[in-house]
Amino acid sequence: MSRIVLAYSGGLDTSVLLKKLILEGYEVVAMTVDLGESDAIAGAGATRALEAVRAKALSLGAYDAVLIDAKERFISEYAFAALHANALYQGVYPLSAALSRPLIADLLVKTAHEYAATAVAHGCTGKGNDQVRIEVAVRALDPTLVCRAPLREAPLSRPDAMAFAAEHGVPIAHTVEKPYSIDANLWGRSIEAGVLEDLWMAPPEDAFAWTAVSYDRPSAPEEITITFEGGEPRCNGLTSVPLVAFLNAFAGIHGIGRIDLVEDRVVGLKSREVYECPGAIALITAHRALERLVLTRDEQRFKATCDQRYAELIYDGLWMQPLRLALNAFNATFATRMSGRVRLCLHQGCVTVTGLASPFALYDERLATYGAGDAFDHHAAGGFIALHGLPLDAYARVIARGDALAVP
Ligand code: ARG
Repeated sequence: MSRIVLAYSGGLDTSVLLKKLILEGYEVVAMTVDLGESDAIAGAGATRALEAVRAKALSLGAYDAVLIDAKERFISEYAFAALHANALYQGVYPLSAALSRPLIADLLVKTAHEYAATAVAHGCTGKGNDQVRIEVAVRALDPTLVCRAPLREAPLSRPDAMAFAAEHGVPIAHTVEKPYSIDANLWGRSIEAGVLEDLWMAPPEDAFAWTAVSYDRPSAPEEITITFEGGEPRCNGLTSVPLVAFLNAFAGIHGIGRIDLVEDRVVGLKSREVYECPGAIALITAHRALERLVLTRDEQRFKATCDQRYAELIYDGLWMQPLRLALNAFNATFATRMSGRVRLCLHQGCVTVTGLASPFALYDERLATYGAGDAFDHHAAGGFIALHGLPLDAYARVIARGDALAVP
């Protein structure tokens, strides 16, 4: 009998998939991954909920069900690698969902090897980015594994799913019609579909769960200091998973990290996605500010291009691309200087940098000052300007002649 590992969330769709794969004759290993989806809000309750997901898979007849806590790995290997690239897709989206997919693919492949399975399966539809991300990564890790996407092979309408569930004993009691499609992990929460498909409609408040509505936010601004050591962030003695969970809660109260984006999907269409990523936005804001202080102008200009490419590789499902690893190595060269403190001020949905300090700062107050003790060579500026503008002088002379286009 062939064995298959299914990425299992416990929802109606993947529960129906689990049953269908069993009916196809597979031994199904259900794999559930804990990426801290509700840690910022629910704490230990989230772990209990995921234990229940595992139990549900077994009760539906799974050959086995595994629950993998991948929070630490997700933050250190994926989210913080993206942080070092200030990764924002199309300049705004911190790639929370996109970053989780190659990790889920990696765990699918590892679990398949552990259980001597010959195939893996996921519940993505044929329209989104996630199918691309998971399948490209699975193929890169083990091209011999068959990767099944049953919801793409045969799309399942909600009434069909309900009918199938009722017929095969899949619990649907508490499955109320959800107004949105939601995906969440420690790096952020994505909300799509439903009324959000009307681009003229502002996202209703019920779309948000991690960020406070304006009238519930504290009226006074609040400051917080993020310390970086070799590029690794810390705050109030917290690092890694606890740090991100803390920042999601702390910045969320101030409504930081709400994003409403019409984005370009890998499969070619535009879609509207709403996000709330309070922790990620606070950290990227701080990281960028520190880079402005410690990196040279040329480093920053070049890195900005690389950062954009890095974000695109993540979004496009090309995490396994050697180019991304090369860019990782490039980003690592800055780590030794990426130490210092950044003070952030959070207020009414805005995060602003209000203080910067670093032993590697290239800022020199003696050069910058307009006050006493100015060490800048003002006379040198005159000569600099004469040479800096020289190419334009030549161009202006040609244009002034008016016959520049007439070849003699
Ligand atoms: N559009 C985002 C991305 O491709 C998020 C997708 C997550 N799915 C969802 N149901 N909201 O990365």
